[in-house]
Amino acid sequence: MTTEEQLAVPLLEAQDLAVKYPNGELALHDMTFSIDAPSFTAIIGPNGSGKSTLIKTILGLMKPVHGFVRVLGHDSVKDSKTIQRLIRYVPQRDHIELTVPMRVKDIVLMGRLMKKPPPRFVSGKDREVGKSALKRVDMIDLWDRPFPELSGGQRQRVLVARALAGEGQILVLDEPLAGTDAESQKMIVEALGEYQRDFDVSIIMVTHDLNPIHVFVKHVLLLRNTLVGIGTPCDVMDPELIKRVYGPAAEVVEYAGHRYCITPDSGVDRHD
Ligand SMILES: Nc1ncnc2c1ncn2[C@@H]1O[C@H](COP(=O)(O)OP(=O)(O)OP(=O)(O)O)[C@@H](O)[C@H]1O
Ligand SMILES: [Mg+2]
Repeated sequence: MTTEEQLAVPLLEAQDLAVKYPNGELALHDMTFSIDAPSFTAIIGPNGSGKSTLIKTILGLMKPVHGFVRVLGHDSVKDSKTIQRLIRYVPQRDHIELTVPMRVKDIVLMGRLMKKPPPRFVSGKDREVGKSALKRVDMIDLWDRPFPELSGGQRQRVLVARALAGEGQILVLDEPLAGTDAESQKMIVEALGEYQRDFDVSIIMVTHDLNPIHVFVKHVLLLRNTLVGIGTPCDVMDPELIKRVYGPAAEVVEYAGHRYCITPDSGVDRHD
C-alpha cells in the first residue's frame, strides 16, 4: 500500500453490522458508516444502546452475526491480532487487582510493557514516556504512591496515562470520565485532545455526556442499538434527533456558538 492509499483508508468502516450476545440479545443491528482517519470520535447514546458492544466488536472481542467492521482497513474478525496491536484500550471497568501493592508507576509502565515481546524490561525511555504521560493528566506527584490508595477519579486519570504511555495509532476509551469530578474531566479531556494534536493518533471515546468533550471531537456516532446519527457534534446535537434517542425531556441549548445537550442523566442538570 502506498502512503496515499494508507491515508485514504478509513479509521472505521462498518457495513450492515449486527452483533448479538449468546443469550439472543441483538445489541446492534443495521450499522453502516465510515469515519476518516485521523479522528477524535465520540460514541454517545443512553444506557444499553450498544456503545460498549461496538467497542468490543471493533477490538475483535465480539464477532458480528452479520456484516463487518474494519479498523484502518483491517477486518475485526480476521485481523483481530493486528487491530489489538494498533489499539490501546481503556475498558469501561478495569479490573486492576487492588490487593496487589502496585504503585502508580507500575500501572503506567504496564502501558509500555504490554506490547513488548518477552523478556519485558523497563528501559530509561519507558520511564521517561511514563512520566510525561502522568504529567499530561497532572498526576506526576503520585508516581510512587500505591495505586489502591488513590481515589476513583485519580485512578481513572492514571489509567488514561497508561494508555497515553502506550504505543499504537488508536486510543479507545470506554467512559473514561465516569465517576470523575469536573476538574478530573477537564484534565482528561484536555490531555486527550492535546495528545491527539501532538501525535496525530486517532481517539475513539465512549461517553455519556458529549458536553465536556465537544470542542475536541470531530465525529460523533449516536447510537440506540443502531446508528441514529453521525456527524460533527453540532450536527448530532439536533433537537429532534436528541429527543428521539433520549426522550422528550432532552433539550438542546445554544451557548457561545456551541450546542449543548441536556438530558435527565447528563451532568448539566444533575444538580437541579
Ligand atoms: N454480556 C452480555 N450478555 C447479554 N447481553 C448483554 C451483555 N452485555 C450487554 N448486553 C446487552 O446488550 C445491549 C447493549 O449493551 P452495552 O453494554 O453495549 O450498552 P452501553 O451503551 O455500553 O450501555 P452503558 O451506557 O450502560 O455502558 C444491552 O441491551 C445489554 O443488556
Ligand atoms: Mg457501556
